[in-house]
Amino acid sequence: MKVALIGLGTTGRIAAEYFHKEQALALVLCRENSQDAGKDLGELLHRPHMGVSVETTENLEEKLNRYKPDILIDFSSPSFLREHLATLARCKVNVVTAVTGYTQMDIKRVKVLARKREIGVVIAPNITLGVNVLLVMAQIAAALQSDYDFQVVDENHRNKKDSPSGTAEKIVAAIKRGLEKSEADNLIPIHSIRAGDITGRHKVLACGKYDQIEITHTAFSRTAYAEGAYKAAQFIYGRKGFYEMKDVYGLGKPNYAEDRLHTDATASLAGFYA
Ligand SMILES: NC(=O)c1ccc[n+]([C@@H]2O[C@H](COP(=O)([O-])OP(=O)(O)OC[C@H]3O[C@@H](n4cnc5c(N)ncnc54)[C@H](OP(=O)(O)O)[C@@H]3O)[C@@H](O)[C@H]2O)c1
Repeated sequence: MKVALIGLGTTGRIAAEYFHKEQALALVLCRENSQDAGKDLGELLHRPHMGVSVETTENLEEKLNRYKPDILIDFSSPSFLREHLATLARCKVNVVTAVTGYTQMDIKRVKVLARKREIGVVIAPNITLGVNVLLVMAQIAAALQSDYDFQVVDENHRNKKDSPSGTAEKIVAAIKRGLEKSEADNLIPIHSIRAGDITGRHKVLACGKYDQIEITHTAFSRTAYAEGAYKAAQFIYGRKGFYEMKDVYGLGKPNYAEDRLHTDATASLAGFYA
């Protein structure tokens, strides 16, 4: 598996090291006018020579044809895929995008392009296994406690550009999937905190009249994001179509709201952990 990476910022740097350690990194891309172009990745990461070239996105098609990556890992911003997805599709390069802040229209376009041009794309605004398990747990809590008040707290570092986070929005969607129909239109507030160097913490509060449940995921290190991107890359290697991280982690199938209506909830939980 040969990988190209775009976005050598706070998270992309960690991902670059991770993919290099796994001997999968063939190319790092940077902006057209970037002074990093032509350097070795080691120079940018203050490491010895790593043997990985840094190239600009200018004439991207020619560079993709030259380095022949199987997959592009994206830790940049929504503008990169908006501009270059068609080129990636032409060159048959699959994509894992961890970027957040895409519009519904962006996602629709990615889905259509992945299908029509027969490439594989993973859209992963929530890339860690832990957050994906939290999504399942939030849906279960909502299915079992529809009359509780649900709220979401989203804590991230002060430089995070989007607020609320894509993960917080996914959590709200998971809660709504779990709630009974009569409750599903209720507003589920998201409280966003942007401060210091918080790596990432998401909390679901389910408050009843007499008790409260909290489900929290805390990322201790950005390596969690790099590891998730690596798992997504292994998944999409040689595949076609549009996927999310729940597909990567095999959490896509169960519908806990239906389970609540038709089966004993304990049995469905036991089934999930079996
Ligand atoms: N899915 C997850 O679980 C997860 C986890 C962590 C981060 N993320 C997402 O990953 C993205 C990056 O996060 P970060 O904290 O690493 O941000 P960051 O520190 O701001 O880094 C972004 C990097 O991407 C580059 N970039 C942005 N747009 C580009 C473009 N169109 N072409 C080429 N390079 C471009 C930037 O270059 P310049 O400095 O030249 O602008 C910078 O090097 C964000 O969308 C963030 O929300 C997702």
